[in-house]
Formats: sequence, structure tokens, C-alpha cells
Amino acid sequence: MKVAILASGNGSNFEALAQQFQAGLLAAELAFVFSDHHDAYVLERAKRLKVPFYSFEVKEFANKQAYEEALLALLEKEQIDLIVLAGYMRIIGKTLLAKFSNRIINIHPSLLPSFPGLHGIKDAFDYGVKVTGVTVHVVDDGVDTGPIIAQEPVMISPMDTLATLEEKIHQVEHRLYPNVLRKIINEKNQ
Ligand code: GRF
Repeated sequence: MKVAILASGNGSNFEALAQQFQAGLLAAELAFVFSDHHDAYVLERAKRLKVPFYSFEVKEFANKQAYEEALLALLEKEQIDLIVLAGYMRIIGKTLLAKFSNRIINIHPSLLPSFPGLHGIKDAFDYGVKVTGVTVHVVDDGVDTGPIIAQEPVMISPMDTLATLEEKIHQVEHRLYPNVLRKIINEKNQ
């Protein structure tokens, strides 16, 4: 089974996953990481970890549809079975969804359906909720709306700042995402 990771930015979740692939703790092949930004830090991580990587940007194509068709062609050429989104800041369009129905997963830094969108951690912090968390879900045609696979709560204490909360959330993400992926891979391998 072949997995591709899509990421737009920092790539700490990519690195947590890649380390587990390389330690033999995930029974699948990490074929490559793709970024929609040539200068994304995730690509530096990929170089350091010697994970194959690709990048191209929407602006290099006539429109979003053409960009997505190029991405789909890459995924099909590499015979990818499962797409793992790790901070991929684009909505997955119809082209990709149709071909990878139920085979795209995402991680979101809140307890969905609360605080969807780009700023899940800050929105929860600003609202003043006492419990937030992390969600892993199947991607559908909405924004952070697909069926939930796993969730883990994170308490917000009066001592927390946005920075300490971000740190707590990311720690949970880096543990939860590999564990969820392991279950998915083991089920598919059976
Ligand atoms: C994570 O908080 C993830 O939940 C969200 O985007 C962030 C990506 O962080 N979807 P990183 O690039 O993996 O460090």
C-alpha cells in the first residue's frame, strides 16, 4: 500500500509520520510528500529525512482545475492508495475527491464540529472553551466536515496562552495521527 502526504507549510505532522514510516512502524510505503508551495518548510524536512518530494503551485496553471488534474496525474502515476493531508491549506476539489473517495484523511486542531476552518486553535482559545482537542476525519466535499475517525481532547487551563495551547495541540497531533494511520493501514492490509 502506498501513501502520499500533502502539506502546505511547516510540516511537523509530516515529520512525525515520516519518522514512523522510516522506523518500520507503519506497514505501508510513504511514496512522497507534495506541497503547493515551493518554499514550504515541509520540503526542507523532506530533504533532511530523504523522503521524495514534489511541489507545484496553482499559479503555474491556467486554473485550480488544471492544478488539481496535475496533482491527480502525479498521484495516479505513483499508484497512491491513500492521501494523508497534513496542513494542506487547499480545499480538495471534485476531481480528486471522485477518484479518492474515502481515501483522503485530514487532521484538524479542534474537536470538530466545533471550530472548523483555518484557525481552529486560536478560535477555541478566544472563545474560552475549557476543552478543545484534535480530530482526524475522512475528507468530503465540505470544509472539515467529513466522517470523524478519531478525536482526543486537550484541556485548556487558566495558565495557558495561545502559544502553550498550540504546543499541547501539536504534541497530541504528532501522537494521534500516526496511531490513526496505523489502524487504517492495518485494516486495509488485512
Ligand atoms: C496542524 O495543526 C493541523 O492540524 C492543521 O494544520 C497544522 C499543520 O501543522 N491541519 P504542521 O505543518 O504539520 O506543523
